Amino acid sequence: MRPKLVVGNWKMNGSREANAALLTGILAGLEGSAAACAVCVPSPYLFQCEQLLQGSKLAWGAQDVSTQPGGAFTGEVAASMLLDFHCRYVIVGHSERRAYHGESNALVARKAQAALDAGLTPIVCVGETLGEREAGETNAVVGAQLDAVLELLGKDAIAKIVVAYEPVWAIGTGKTATPAMAQEVHAQLRTQLRACNAVAAESIAILYGGSMKPDNAADLMAQADIDGGLIGGAALKAEDFLAIIRAAS
Ligand code: 13P
Repeated sequence: MRPKLVVGNWKMNGSREANAALLTGILAGLEGSAAACAVCVPSPYLFQCEQLLQGSKLAWGAQDVSTQPGGAFTGEVAASMLLDFHCRYVIVGHSERRAYHGESNALVARKAQAALDAGLTPIVCVGETLGEREAGETNAVVGAQLDAVLELLGKDAIAKIVVAYEPVWAIGTGKTATPAMAQEVHAQLRTQLRACNAVAAESIAILYGGSMKPDNAADLMAQADIDGGLIGGAALKAEDFLAIIRAAS
């Protein structure tokens, strides 16, 4: 069985004071949980995470990364900078980046490559909109999103990625894919990973994201190909985030 992984995506939320309370609360309740866990925070707070979390079971990471190693790219953050704060993970291709910043499948693939080159684990997000699902295009859309990454990274490197399936219509809406709906897409993603690297595909974590909460986490994570969660809203409350980590443990 693959180990479970629970990652909080804080999105553009937080303050030094609120983060300290949240992280302290999470750390206080982590004892005894078996699942691996992490928080992906706004970049200005990476130093705070490093200070508070080093030596703990809670890893940390960022929510985006530049394709470039450095130089004249105003506003961008390089993978080496994330590593400087001992990040383990970086989310790439979140649907909010794709929708509001026009990130293409090809760009997301290059971000995943930049993360891997620096020694970070990219959490590669894929997911369809409601319109795409209703048009029967789910498999084609998420398939193309993942394919772009697999093609650029190649067979050997894909062992080092995490994939997250986040149906856009389920993000922040309180609507969750049923466990069966999610499993169907996760199984397809696993098949696609197998076609690229059959051995690696068995150990790559495929997380579900989209209104995962304490009351639905266990059912979702009981599915054969759901290896954990990428959590938005519920990651901002220590009790809820801990309950999801416990459901995974
Ligand atoms: P919610 O859990 O708030 O739906 O957000 C999911 C998400 O986008 C995680 O990356």
